[in-house]
This record gives sequence, C-alpha cells and structure tokens, in this order.
Amino acid sequence: MTTLLGIETSCDETSAAVVQDGRTILSLVIASQADFHARYGGVFPEMASRMHIEAIHPVITQALEQAHGSLDEIDVIAVTRGPGLAGSLVVGMNAAKGLALGRGLPLIGVSHLEGHLYSLWLVEGAEQTQFPVMCLIVSGGHTELVLMTDHLHYRRLGGTIDDAAGEAFDKVGRMLGLPYPGGPYIEKAAREGNPAAFAFPRAWLEGAHDFSFSGLKTAVLRELKRQAPDSHPGEAAPPPNTPIADLAASFQAAAVEVLAVKTVAAARVHGATAIFMAGGVSANKALRAEMEKRAGDLPVRFPPLILCADNAAMIAAAGHWRFLAGHRDSLAMDVKPNWKLT
Ligand SMILES: Nc1ncnc2c1ncn2[C@@H]1O[C@H](COP(=O)(O)OP(=O)(O)OP(=O)(O)O)[C@@H](O)[C@H]1O
Ligand SMILES: [Mg+2]
Repeated sequence: MTTLLGIETSCDETSAAVVQDGRTILSLVIASQADFHARYGGVFPEMASRMHIEAIHPVITQALEQAHGSLDEIDVIAVTRGPGLAGSLVVGMNAAKGLALGRGLPLIGVSHLEGHLYSLWLVEGAEQTQFPVMCLIVSGGHTELVLMTDHLHYRRLGGTIDDAAGEAFDKVGRMLGLPYPGGPYIEKAAREGNPAAFAFPRAWLEGAHDFSFSGLKTAVLRELKRQAPDSHPGEAAPPPNTPIADLAASFQAAAVEVLAVKTVAAARVHGATAIFMAGGVSANKALRAEMEKRAGDLPVRFPPLILCADNAAMIAAAGHWRFLAGHRDSLAMDVKPNWKLT
C-alpha cells in the first residue's frame, strides 16, 4: 500500500489530500480564494500567490490530521508542477520540496491536466477501465480532447483554438451580470430559461477535433447590444428587462451541444471504450446529460462534483500512477506554468 500526500496550488485553490493507492481518499482539504477574486471578476495572480503562502501550511496540516495520520504515514509527495500561475505553483512546489527533503521522501511533479484526468480514477469502478478512453478536459483554462491509450499515455486530438469552455461561461456570465465564476450561475439561470429562445451559432470546425467558443461569446454580446444598444455588457449590469434565463439557456445549449457531439464523434472514430469528462465545466448537468444522450451505449463517466474543480486528491491519484511507473523528480525540479499534457 502506498500513501501519497498531494498538493495543488496552480490557480486560486490551496489544496492538500492524502490518498491511498491512487484510489482511496483519506482526506481532502480545499481552501478556495474564489470569494476574494470575485470582486475583481477574475483571479488576481499576485494576491493568489500571497494567499497560497498563508494557506499552505494550515491546509497540509489539516489534510494530515483528517487522515488521522502524520507525515510518518506518507510514502510519496505529489505536487502540481504546471500548467498554472507561476507565483501560485511555486508556493505548492516549495512546500512539497521542503517536506520531501525533510523526510527523505520521493517527490513527483504532476501535470494539473493529468490530475484532472485521474480524478476519474478516484471513482468506483474505475479499475475496470479498458483503454483507449476519449477524455474531454473542460476547465477554466483548457478545453482539450485527448485519447488516453494507457495509463500516463495520451494522444492530443484537438482543443480550443480560442477561449476555453469555462472561460466562455465566465465571460458570458459577466455580460449577463452574474457573479464570478459565471459557469455555475449560468447553469442555475439556464434552468428557468428556454434553450431554443436564441439560435446562437455552433462552431463545428468540420474535419478537426478542435473547438471554438469566441464566436458564440460574441453572438451573446451582439444579442445584448441589439436588445439594449446603450448597454455596456460586461462593464455594467444588463437592463432589468433582459431575458437572462433565456440567454443563459441558449448559450449553454450551444456550448454543450458542440462539446458533446464532437467528443462522441472523436470517441467513435478512435474506437474508445468510454468517454471521460473532467475539469470544472464537467460539473455542468446539461453537459453531462447531453454527453450521455449523444453517446448512446458508450459509457460516459465524470467525477463527483467535489473532484471536478481543482483539488489535491486528483494530483495524488495521478502521482500514484507516475510513482508506479518509476517516475521520480529531483529537488531541482522547477514549475512549468505552460506545461502541455502531450
Ligand atoms: N456548473 C458549471 N457549469 C459550467 N461551468 C462551470 C460549472 N462549474 C464550474 N464551472 C467552470 O469551471 C471553471 C473552473 O474549473 P477549474 O477549476 O477546473 O479550472 P481552472 O483550474 O481554473 O483551469 P485549468 O484546470 O484549465 O487550469 C470555471 O470557468 C467555472 O466557471
Ligand atoms: Mg483546473
């Protein structure tokens, strides 16, 4: 049995977790700064870094306590190496190096994106996974279609050519006067709206496994300006009579349709045995439903809500598989803010 301490500080969540064998979560602590950054309408990098510095030790201590253990029970330290904000990544990295050095423990730098994928291995039944699996990573910074051919082996098929899906949700949320981050608020508003109220464009990008969301975002902006030419979407609250629910529902319908149709098509082309969705946007119930509808008899898996957003359990899970494969990093390891999965 191998017990890993995972540490994640790539963006605005300070998180630590103790995970056994990449499968069983003994503890998971997440200190989110989202409420702080909400006032800026996005993450304020310098403050994110400072807040990680304040939170990192209490969060790690709490994770060890909640696992009813101490560093004595930890065999391996796994930490997010990138991608993410450099000043944020460095805080988790330095904490991980300190613990590894002090305790003489192996240290493993993990890709945040690989972490999102391994959140699926913390779910019941994951052991039965047969490769290849079609993975859609949909988060605030990424929209990536990746064929996973084995543990730790990926083939990138495509991704967004402009905004990430989560970024589009957040920008449209801002235009509609919804709080930050817009994703969950759009989902909530959309429940009361008509998804067919506005025929927003779907960017199919025929022949490529790529996505584009900037045209959709601009279409929402144009509709808001058409309805209220003197309004300033994104800068000032929309006028009181704005059909927020219908706009949210129509935007969401366009975004999830493209994500689902293109992911299922790629899965069929590449003979995938299942579709795995991960990342913040995979929490979206409309996306989950649309993916399942389009996938038919192809199984679709997504993480439980707590594991969709940034968390250290997924980093420990990915770290476990890297550890098994013999991967070790030195104390000279540096963060990689622009690290690609493949
Ligand atoms: N229910 C939801 N519907 C749509 N989007 C959502 C929902 N819940 C969260 N999101 C979006 O998920 C994103 C955050 O996800 P996550 O924390 O995985 O991203 P990130 O870590 O900032 O980016 P990355 O993982 O690419 O580095 C935000 O854009 C947020 O709006
Ligand atoms: Mg993330």
